[in-house]
Amino acid sequence: MTAKAQIPSSQTMDVLPLTGAMGAEIRGIDLTRLDAPAFSALERALYDFGAIVVRDQKLSHDEQKSFAARFGEIEVHPIVEGIDGHPEIIKIHKSAGDAATFGVGWHSDNSFTERPSLCSIVYGVTIPPYGGDTLFANQYLAYEQLSDGMRRMLDGLYAVHSAKYAYTAPTTDAKYEGKTTMSYRRSETIGAEVLHPVVRTHPETGRRALYVNPMFTVRFADMSEEESRPLLDFLFRHAAREDFQCRVRWYEGSVTLWDNRCVMHSALNDCQGFERIHYRVTVQGERPV
Ligand code: SIN
Repeated sequence: MTAKAQIPSSQTMDVLPLTGAMGAEIRGIDLTRLDAPAFSALERALYDFGAIVVRDQKLSHDEQKSFAARFGEIEVHPIVEGIDGHPEIIKIHKSAGDAATFGVGWHSDNSFTERPSLCSIVYGVTIPPYGGDTLFANQYLAYEQLSDGMRRMLDGLYAVHSAKYAYTAPTTDAKYEGKTTMSYRRSETIGAEVLHPVVRTHPETGRRALYVNPMFTVRFADMSEEESRPLLDFLFRHAAREDFQCRVRWYEGSVTLWDNRCVMHSALNDCQGFERIHYRVTVQGERPV
């Protein structure tokens, strides 16, 4: 992909890579008016760069959902309450007084479900003057830069993913009672465990990516958490190496899309005293293979 991609339609898209590892900023398009070739070019950029940020957008809730639906079936989050009238949209909201921000800690969206999210589409609405950026890490590179021996060993392994720690911390109790800025729904999904391969093959690119994350991967299949911990800790550290990353700075009207099948991400909670609001829609993916 070159820095300036000319696409076969009336629309021209400027694609500016963010780092040598991943991520691109896209300028010159309106997400509500993409014709089929322009949408294909955008989709291609998502597969090439893992995460793309599109600036200066204005999206109603319906427009955000319609755009997301071009990638596949949009999903309702099994635990976080959606907004009134749009259950598929979650409002990622940190009020100025909140100590915590949703999405802090490396993860791949909804990896605790049987068919984890394919991509996430997040629209920035209220942005702190500084802080609250989002980090992304390229999991193709994470896999490719392991030794041959480690890759061979991981290729046959499965791991258990669950929301049971991320969504049951004592600090989350108030969220189930609707007392916090974001509300959660008590659901059987929280305690459920699902098995996913530790290395997954991306259905579009055919590339292999590491697929474990510290928020939701709790142990290897047929092993205890204690036995799994040393290798998981190594993989979590390795997967988040700085040279696999890019960082997205948000502005009002920024829309960031990422491919959860080959990218982990983490919001940063360094905007105390400021409000931060984003609307997120996720598209259901396939069972990882
Ligand atoms: C998330 O979707 O996990 C959070 C992203 C963000 O708010 O930066």
